[in-house]
Amino acid sequence: TKVAVVLGGRSVEHPVSCASAAGVIAALDPEQYEVVAVGITQAGQWLSVDARSAKLALGDGNVPEISADSGQHVVLAADPTMKDVAITDAAGGARVLSDVDVVFPVLHGAYGEDGTIQGLLEMADVPYVGSNVLSSAASMDKDFMKRLLKAEGIPVGDYVVLKRDQTLSEAEKQRLGLPVFVKPSRAGSSLGISKVTDWDDLDKAIATARAVDPKVLVEAAFTGVRELECGVLEREDGGAPDTTPPFEVLIAGTEGWFDFEAKYLASGSPYDLAPDLPEGTAERIRELAARVFTVMDCSDLARVDFFLASDGTVYVNEINTMPGLTPGSGVPVAWANAGVDYPELVARLVRLAAN
Ligand code: DAL
Ligand code: MG
Repeated sequence: TKVAVVLGGRSVEHPVSCASAAGVIAALDPEQYEVVAVGITQAGQWLSVDARSAKLALGDGNVPEISADSGQHVVLAADPTMKDVAITDAAGGARVLSDVDVVFPVLHGAYGEDGTIQGLLEMADVPYVGSNVLSSAASMDKDFMKRLLKAEGIPVGDYVVLKRDQTLSEAEKQRLGLPVFVKPSRAGSSLGISKVTDWDDLDKAIATARAVDPKVLVEAAFTGVRELECGVLEREDGGAPDTTPPFEVLIAGTEGWFDFEAKYLASGSPYDLAPDLPEGTAERIRELAARVFTVMDCSDLARVDFFLASDGTVYVNEINTMPGLTPGSGVPVAWANAGVDYPELVARLVRLAAN
């Protein structure tokens, strides 16, 4: 099976994608899979990359990046049939994406996890791992995601959407209360997110989020909250999706929440794979995770993130259609703990996409 792994990309999560893709590529058994790696620079240039030798891990001071000198330049060629995915190198030689059986877009955030590359691959009629165009786009945008979940009666926290120049009204400040989390609507890995504990800091937090996405969410915070996550994986027999037991995020970021630093740069695992939970909570989370996956019309994989409020109520925080897949990320670790090791997880994703 020939698999094209796409990595990097235009979003702020570029380095995380590199690290996830390095893990995925290392987990693809070379006896069984021929892997080609296609890197996308932060400027949107496509390159063919020798991903097995590139330094793509994140941490220990390394922030990986696909740059113009990390590979051979690839151009989108005008193939009128659009059958050959039409991505060839600049010299017109090697066709990077033709004859691939499956594309694995290991891209996080905008321009990758949001339906854009999925649209390109649909047009070229190439099977790919992950959710379809609409599902990816709606899941990426926290505003649309929450609207869809609310319409299905799935509990989500209170929030306000701020478009372009908008800010919170006094009434909205009263309603949400402090602290609030200010987030770009379309982003990931906690980039652009601030916790605001004083309304005087609100404008700065909105500006920080807006630098990532003009649409900003201000979310009410839960007091005494615990953060739990749940991996979802489609089944090859078409049955209801499998879920991991929920795992807890040990909130140890520099700001006291699960920020970028705590997610990727801190030493040690930020997860408790067997958290002590009130009776029925694990079942509730797994049931909700599968429902969110279905409501959002996801394919292959996802990770659904939850808040457990101090009164025992479970709220959905968000869904990630291409969750972090670095070897230390929650999804690979939780699946391994549940008996699906990383190479099997990756192989199952490729089979799900190919069949
Ligand atoms: N957005 C990051 C990669 C995650 O959800 O794991
Ligand atoms: Mg996310």
